Amino acid sequence: MKFVVLRWTLGLCLIGLLTLVANNDVLAEPEYQGPESCQKCHKVDLEVWEKTKHATSMKTVHKTKEAKAIMEALGEKRMKRNDTCTMCHYTMVKSGSRLKAVAGPSCESCHGASSEWKPIHNDYGKDAAGNALKREAEDPAHKAERIEASTKAGMVWPQQTFDVASNCLICHGLTNESIPADLLSKMMEADHPINPEFELVRYSMGSVRHRFYPPDITKNAEMTPAQLARFFIAGHAASIVAATKVVSKIAHPKYVAAQKARINAAKAALEAIQGSVPEAAALLQDPSEAKARALVAAIEGKDLSGSVGGLLPAKDSYK
Ligand code: HEC
Ligand code: HEC
Ligand code: HEC
Ligand code: HEC
Repeated sequence: MKFVVLRWTLGLCLIGLLTLVANNDVLAEPEYQGPESCQKCHKVDLEVWEKTKHATSMKTVHKTKEAKAIMEALGEKRMKRNDTCTMCHYTMVKSGSRLKAVAGPSCESCHGASSEWKPIHNDYGKDAAGNALKREAEDPAHKAERIEASTKAGMVWPQQTFDVASNCLICHGLTNESIPADLLSKMMEADHPINPEFELVRYSMGSVRHRFYPPDITKNAEMTPAQLARFFIAGHAASIVAATKVVSKIAHPKYVAAQKARINAAKAALEAIQGSVPEAAALLQDPSEAKARALVAAIEGKDLSGSVGGLLPAKDSYK
């Protein structure tokens, strides 16, 4: 009897200890705050976003006959309240005890729910007297820590191209892991679109493009050919990993065909560079996230436009 009690006490202590360790390590679940919360400091980016289909769909998509047909097939009524639809179609912000759709896909759909990272991502640190430092005065070590801490808190930085690309596919590839297979099948049977032609450059360099980088932060700059080639490869690296993971999730022929088409397009892109980039050959052999990240790291700073050039989408096809 005594032994049992002792075991209990020890057990509880251990649970307590584990919870402490876990709480120390795991940050609070990040929450979405909506595009308005970025406006003060990123007005130009917001102005671009407002004209995109991501923003305008808030007022339109639920009213289409396609949306109504899908909702009817699922036995549901309101798209903005449906947990499945809202995963991809809306930015959900806490309002009292429930989540409310405040916008279509917006800033945080691509850069991460911001409650935990927003206060950190622009904090350049303080000087000895405790005054906030300006960007130019930030210590490089502080900058590295700031990027690491905000990434850990859920931020997706533009430079993290593998993450940026994978994130588009959660929605555009219908690869969101939280959707149960039977629900996904029902969506597909009800004719939810799946677009095998989604390709990162074509879809990010048109209406969606916001690249107001220094030195000229007033200019929405186009990418150079070398940047385009790297972005194209990062997109296909993310695509082959995501599509391979889900290709057998459901048997719906349109879903399977779309994922296969993605895999084939990615193969063509990777084959074009495998001669000069061994990491591309490795990813073709084993389409895993680790190999894809290794490839994206390996091409940093490289100009692959010579080998990739012919595969890049024409500018007039940008979405
Ligand atoms: C109080 C001002 C402020 C707010 C509010 C703010 N940001 Fe920022 N943000 C900044 C500053 C300053 C930087 C530049 C940081 C640096 O120099 O690395 C930045 C950088 C970024 C970057 C990286 C830019 C780059 O060049 O790599 C992204 C992405 C970003 N913010 C997104 C957002 C989003 C999304 C929101 C809203 C959820 C938001 N920010 C809210 C001030 C802000
Ligand atoms: C995994 C993400 C995801 C989920 C979940 C999802 N959608 Fe979509 N939906 C998309 C994407 C991405 C598009 C745009 C496809 C394209 O054109 O590339 C889209 C397009 C649509 C369209 C066509 C839009 C238009 O403007 O013509 C309708 C209608 C639609 N979805 C309804 C729904 C409904 C209703 C639900 C909930 C049952 C739902 N979707 C769930 C990602 C999703
Ligand atoms: C569809 C996904 C998507 C959405 C929505 C989106 N971004 Fe971005 N954002 C990106 C990508 C991709 C880049 C990197 C572009 C590049 O470097 O070529 C980027 C770059 C940035 C940058 C750095 C370049 C610059 O213009 O200063 C900032 C800051 C930024 N985004 C803020 C925002 C804010 C604020 C919003 C909402 C108003 C927003 N983003 C909406 C994907 C998105
Ligand atoms: C949270 C889900 C989500 C994410 C993440 C997302 N999108 Fe979208 N996107 C959508 C939905 C949903 C639509 C369709 C809206 C509609 O038609 O009603 C769409 C539409 C678009 C369109 C308009 C397509 C057309 O045919 O006019 C472009 C371009 C686009 N997205 C690019 C991107 C890019 C590039 C990324 C990643 C950098 C991205 N999106 C990330 C959900 C998302």
